[in-house]
Amino acid sequence: MKLALIGYGNVGRAFARLLDARRSTFPFRIVAIHTARHGSAYGLRGGVPAPPFGPPADSVEEFLDQSRAEVAVELTTLNPATGEPAIGHIRAAFARRMHVITANKGPIAHAFASLREEAERALVEFRYESTVMDGAPVFNMVRNNLPGVRVLGFTGALNSTSKLVIDAMRRGLSFDDGVREAQKMGVAEADASYDTDGWDSAAKGAALANVLMDARVTPLDVERRGIGRLTPERVRELAGNRKRPVLITRGRLSGGKVKVRVRAEVLDETDPLATVQGTSNIILFHTDLMGTVGTVSIEPGVEQTAYGVFSDLIDIAKTI
Ligand SMILES: NC(=O)c1ccc[n+]([C@@H]2O[C@H](COP(=O)([O-])OP(=O)(O)OC[C@H]3O[C@@H](n4cnc5c(N)ncnc54)[C@H](OP(=O)(O)O)[C@@H]3O)[C@@H](O)[C@H]2O)c1
Repeated sequence: MKLALIGYGNVGRAFARLLDARRSTFPFRIVAIHTARHGSAYGLRGGVPAPPFGPPADSVEEFLDQSRAEVAVELTTLNPATGEPAIGHIRAAFARRMHVITANKGPIAHAFASLREEAERALVEFRYESTVMDGAPVFNMVRNNLPGVRVLGFTGALNSTSKLVIDAMRRGLSFDDGVREAQKMGVAEADASYDTDGWDSAAKGAALANVLMDARVTPLDVERRGIGRLTPERVRELAGNRKRPVLITRGRLSGGKVKVRVRAEVLDETDPLATVQGTSNIILFHTDLMGTVGTVSIEPGVEQTAYGVFSDLIDIAKTI
């Protein structure tokens, strides 16, 4: 299958390395790459390209037309406020009857229902595994391993920066020290308030609710309270009682509507949701037929995000 990458940053390059490593088993080939500042490249022959970038295509439409690819892989920078321009990129690919994979949660958090309908109308596949918990199976687990099951709700500890900041406060450091540690590790956003105010968790919650519970919410619909009011004194007092605050994202059905909430909850240290530390993540799905079942990802990195894109690609290849 021929692939056109829109965005070639950390995830794009890790994905190219992964395709190269599995090249003998899986016949996927990157044939074109489009970026914001580096330009566009066409006629690639696979491998790990140091792409011979020429001038950027005038538009993503022009890039996709010239790429002659069957699958568009959307890996551009997240715009948490609107999901654009990634939503437009995905629409342009559907309009050309291309399958789409994205690791960008903006479109899933802001416009999933309409994008799914457009994909159905265009008779193409749309996948987004890496948008929540990197490559760990979340959406594909429900899709492929829980047939006939209805997801009634979910609970997750999905934001790494908040875990690192709370952990720093437990060690006696300040909130700002914790933010600086997370930034040094490359985990926090440049504007860390996106993490600590709960916006990242709200975007993930909206994406989960939209996909798994057929909600039509955006991050703005999420009832959201971050960890900003926690102090080192309070965190250490809780630790003395074997408790830990954790920024938790919950989705549930209430009066026929899906409600999503982000809040720092005080949990027993032994609660599974409190035992996952640092950059590790956990999600639990509450279902009608399978009770509560979940996924844990221990210290995922960009290679795992790339794997999520790769798993989507294999899933599409098996489906079509
Ligand atoms: N990094 C992770 O581990 C991770 C995990 C889960 C999800 N994600 C998501 O995956 C996506 C990519 O992440 P990343 O870490 O690879 O980001 P990144 O390193 O910042 O790379 C972003 C790429 O997108 C390109 N780009 C930005 N705006 C564009 C536009 N309007 N048109 C065309 N190309 C554009 C950039 O072009 P230039 O190279 O020219 O600047 C760059 O190549 C993001 O949405 C992120 O939230 C990342």
